[in-house]
Amino acid sequence: MDVEALEQAALAAVAAASSTDAIESVRVEYLGRKSELKLALREVRDRETGMTLNAARERIEAAVGARESELERAELDRRLAEERADVTLPVGGYERGHLHLITQIRREVEDIFLGLGYGVVDGREVESTHYNFDGLNFPPGHPARSPLASLFLDADTLLRTETSPSQVRTMEAQDPPVYIVSLGRVYRRDTPDATHTPVFHQVEGLAVDEGITLADLTGTLDFLFKALFGQERRTEFRTHYFPFTEPSIEAYVSCHVCDGAGCPVCRHSGWIEVGGAGMVDPKLFEFAGYDPERYSGFAFGWGLERIAMLRHEFPDLRELWRNDLRFSGQF
Ligand code: DAH
Repeated sequence: MDVEALEQAALAAVAAASSTDAIESVRVEYLGRKSELKLALREVRDRETGMTLNAARERIEAAVGARESELERAELDRRLAEERADVTLPVGGYERGHLHLITQIRREVEDIFLGLGYGVVDGREVESTHYNFDGLNFPPGHPARSPLASLFLDADTLLRTETSPSQVRTMEAQDPPVYIVSLGRVYRRDTPDATHTPVFHQVEGLAVDEGITLADLTGTLDFLFKALFGQERRTEFRTHYFPFTEPSIEAYVSCHVCDGAGCPVCRHSGWIEVGGAGMVDPKLFEFAGYDPERYSGFAFGWGLERIAMLRHEFPDLRELWRNDLRFSGQF
């Protein structure tokens, strides 16, 4: 075997190798277990041949190792140049949650009234008939007292049908002046359709002080509607009936779509009904132990869903409960 020729061939192959894969093949060919050199080393009988072969093997190994590091470095440099990440490129974007539309409106209404100096009080969703009906001057036999209309837990306990019981509880708990709003869920035995859900949300307001008049009520509601629906809105009040207010009114806001001219959204009337209100019936002051000669007050209440629908013009209330992100993600 010509060791010198073998070494020359090996070194030439090393020099010619142009990738780490190629240098690996050279290593296998000249230094691998089945290479000519390894086989020859296994057969060696005399010391001199062994030394010659081992010296050649060491030089080839060194050459392969050196070339390998060189090629690895070159490949790394190339990859660093080619695969450089541009950290300024926009990423795909990620979804971020936000508060539900009704929660947003609830907080907005609370903020408006906090700004007017009102307090926010919590009511109870499970109420007694005393606070839900008797204390609000509902006569015996009023249709809302029927289990067909309301969700009863037992004869004297029900899921509140409105936020108005918080008026009774507040007046029982504190003396005038009273300026509060109370927001939360209410329950009625309604079959869900585009404009009804058995659970919905109301805001209740109550102001009791010396010298409160109907003008204070209409002024407060005008302020509220402009804040909620836009400064260009006009308000209108029509007489109505509620057991706990006298006189009672229903509040309307000029249609935000046609500005009063008449369109399908306002059923061609130019006005949209927002909810009920009135001067607190002196009967409620009697229950609370307030002096009706000294104090007067106003109250109002309506649905937050209604505000949401008016502002965003979606046709079906049930969307608010479906949790479809294509809907709720818009707000
Ligand atoms: N509680 C009434 C309802 O659920 C709304 C309401 C009307 C509340 C007049 C009031 C009020 O405080 O004064 O329909």
